[in-house]
Amino acid sequence: MTTASTFTARLAAWQSRVEEQLSLRLPAVETEPKRLHAAMRYSALGGGKRVRPALVYATADAFGVPESQVDGAACAVEMIHVYSLVHDDLPAMDNDDLRRGRPTCHKAFDEATAILAGDALQVLAFQTLAAGSGLPQDPHTRLRLVQLLAEASGTAGMAGGQALDLAAMGNTLTLAAVEEMHARKTGALIRACVMMGAACVPNLQAPALAALDQFATAIGLAFQIQDDLLDIEGDPATLGKATGADSARNKPTYPSTVGIDAAHRRVRELHDHALGALRSLDLARADLLIEMSNWLVLRRH
Ligand code: IPE
Ligand code: IPE
Ligand code: MG
Ligand code: MG
Ligand code: MG
Repeated sequence: MTTASTFTARLAAWQSRVEEQLSLRLPAVETEPKRLHAAMRYSALGGGKRVRPALVYATADAFGVPESQVDGAACAVEMIHVYSLVHDDLPAMDNDDLRRGRPTCHKAFDEATAILAGDALQVLAFQTLAAGSGLPQDPHTRLRLVQLLAEASGTAGMAGGQALDLAAMGNTLTLAAVEEMHARKTGALIRACVMMGAACVPNLQAPALAALDQFATAIGLAFQIQDDLLDIEGDPATLGKATGADSARNKPTYPSTVGIDAAHRRVRELHDHALGALRSLDLARADLLIEMSNWLVLRRH
C-alpha cells in the first residue's frame, strides 16, 4: 500500500524529472531568437504543480511502464498546458498579470512575444512526440500519442473550450453548458494525460481503457470546478495567481451557476466516481493514481 508520504516523494520526483526533461527539450536562451526562447523557458520552467506530467507518470507506473518511456508524453502535455496558460493570460483573453507567482509572460516580455512563445510551445509538443528520446519504440504508439494530444488540444478540446469560455462572458449558462465548457477547456487535456500514459502500456485491453477513461474524465471536470472554487475561496499567495478574476470578468463558472455548496458536492461526487472506476480495474498498483485524485480534489493551489 502506498502511503501519503510515498506519494509526496514520488510526486516531488516527477516534478523535478519533468523540469529537467523540459529544460533539455526547450531551445537554449543563447540561440536566436533569444527573446522568444527566453519567454518559452520563463513560462515552462520553475513553476506549476505539474499535475499533467504526474498523471502521465502515475498511469504508466500503475502498469509497470518505466518513466523513461513516457518522458516525451509528460513533456508534451505540459508544453501544451503552458502554451494554453500563456495565451489564456493575454489581454485578449483573461488579461491576467500574475501566473505561478510571477508576472505573466506578456507582462515579463510583451504581447507579441507571448503569442509566439505559445505558438512555439505548441509545435514543440508535437515535435517531442514525433521523434527523440523518452518515447515508446513502436511508431504506431507514437502516432496514437500525437492523435490523443491533438484531439485534446484542438476545437474538440482545449481551444474549443476556451472559445466557449470567451463567448460565455457576461451570459448565464445552463449547468450542462458549463460542464461542456469545463470538460473541453481543461478536462480534455487532463484526460489525455491518462490516455497517453495508457497508450504506452502494451496490450492494454478495452475494459481497462474504458475504466481509465471514466477515471480521467471525472478528475478532469473536477479539476476545473476546483479551479473555479479556488478563484472564490483560495489565497492568491498560495495560488500564485489572482483570485476573484472570474466574477470580475463576469464569467459563468460552476459555482456561479449552481452555488458554492453544490460545486463542492459535484467535486466530491466526481472524485467518488473516479475512485470507483479505478476500483473496477482491480489494479494492484493503482495506489498512486488514487493518491493523485485525492490530491487534485483536496488541493488549495
Ligand atoms: C490552471 O492549471 C489552469 C487550468 C486549466 C485550470 P493548473 O492549476 O494545473 O496550473 P499550474 O500548472 O499548476 O500552474
Ligand atoms: C483555464 O481556465 C483553462 C485553460 C485552458 C488555460 P482559467 O482561465 O480558469 O485558468 P486560470 O484560472 O487562469 O488558471
Ligand atoms: Mg480562462
Ligand atoms: Mg484564466
Ligand atoms: Mg480559473
